[in-house]
Amino acid sequence: MTTAFDGIRLGRYTTRNRVVMAPMTRSRAYGPGATPTELMAQYYGQRAGAGLIVTEGTQPSAVGQGYVNTPGLHTAPQVEAWKPVTAAVHEHGGLIFAQLMHSGRIGHPSVHGATPVGASAVAAAGQVHTAEGLQDLVTPEPLDDDAIRATIADFANAARNAVEAGFDGVELHGANGYLLHQFLSTNANLRTDAWGGTIEGRIRLTVEVAKAVAAAIGADRVGLRISPSNPFNDITEDGHRETYLALVDALNPLGLAYLHVGEGPDTEFTPQLRARWQGPLILNPYTPGSWTGPEALKLVETGEADLVSYGALYLANPDLPERLAAGGPFNQPDYTKAFGGDHTGYTDYPALAAA
Ligand SMILES: Cc1cc2nc3c(=O)[nH]c(=O)nc-3n(C[C@H](O)[C@H](O)[C@H](O)COP(=O)(O)O)c2cc1C
Repeated sequence: MTTAFDGIRLGRYTTRNRVVMAPMTRSRAYGPGATPTELMAQYYGQRAGAGLIVTEGTQPSAVGQGYVNTPGLHTAPQVEAWKPVTAAVHEHGGLIFAQLMHSGRIGHPSVHGATPVGASAVAAAGQVHTAEGLQDLVTPEPLDDDAIRATIADFANAARNAVEAGFDGVELHGANGYLLHQFLSTNANLRTDAWGGTIEGRIRLTVEVAKAVAAAIGADRVGLRISPSNPFNDITEDGHRETYLALVDALNPLGLAYLHVGEGPDTEFTPQLRARWQGPLILNPYTPGSWTGPEALKLVETGEADLVSYGALYLANPDLPERLAAGGPFNQPDYTKAFGGDHTGYTDYPALAAA
C-alpha cells in the first residue's frame, strides 16, 4: 500500500514523502523593496523535511501585492534575497516551489501606490490590513488586453526569477479569490471579451499564464493551485464543476508537475476532478472549523490524493512529517502570530526532539 511517507514523482523531481507544506502568507518580508530576510531562511529551512514546500504567496509584480510585507519575485534584489532561503531548504535535502500570487482586486492603493487591478470594475466585499489599519477593498481597474498580456509576461518573468533564485519550481495561485480566481469566477469577471463571458473566456487567463510559465521554465516544474467552490474573498462561481473540468481539460496537454486542490464545500466534486486530471494531485481537504489533521494521510492510502498539504499544522510543527509518522504530539498554531511580527510564533515552535 502506498502511504504518505513514500516518495512520488512530481514533474522533474522525486519527493521524499507526500506531506506538502501548504502556501502560507506570513508577512515578514521586512527587507527593503519587499525582499525576504534571514529569518525567513531559518523558517523554511526548519521545514525542509516536507516532500515539497510551497512558499507564501509571492507577488510577480508590484501591483500584484495584496498585503503588507509580502515578498516579491520581480526585482533583482528580491532574487538575491531569496537565495539564502532556497539554499537553507536544499542544505537539508528539501524541495521548494515559490507560490506566484497576483492578488488582483484584493489589495489597496496604500500597499503599492496604485489602484489594484482586476477582471472587471467590481469591488470585493470586505476589508484588507494595510499599514494604516483595516481598510475597505476598492474597485479595481479592469485590465485591458495589453495589460493582460503584460500580466502574463510578469508571471513568466517571475518564474524565471524564481529559478535564478534557486527555487525548484513555481506554483501558480489560482485559488482563494486572487487574480486568476477572479477571472475564473462569475461575479468578479463580468467581461464580454475573449477573457470572460463564457467558460472558455473565464479559464483563458489561467491557461495562458500556465502556458507562458511552462514555456519559460518547463512544465515539469510548474504547479497550479485551485479552490473550486471556495467563496473566500467574495467569490461566486456559477457552474463551477463545468468551469474546472474545462480548465483541467485545457491544462492536461501541458504536462504540469501537479494540480493542488484547496478543497471547497463541494467535496463531492473532488473525485471527479481527480479522475479528469492526468497528473499528480495534491489535496488540501475541506475541514471547516478546524485544520487538516493526521487523518488526512489516509487520502493517500485510499488513492483520493497523491499528496496531502498541511497549512496550520505545518506552521506550528517544523518537523511535521516526523510527528505524523510518530502519531504526534503536535504543537498548536498561534494564529495571533500568523501575519507579521518577529520570530515568535514563527521560528520558535520546537521540533519533537527538542520538546
Ligand atoms: C496564516 C495562513 C496564510 C495563508 N496564506 C496562503 C497563501 O499565501 N496562499 C495560499 O494559496 N493559501 C494560503 N493559506 C491557505 C493554506 O494554504 C491552507 O489551504 C489552509 O490553511 C487550510 O489548510 P489547513 O487546514 O491545513 O490549515 C493560508 C493559510 C494560513 C493559515
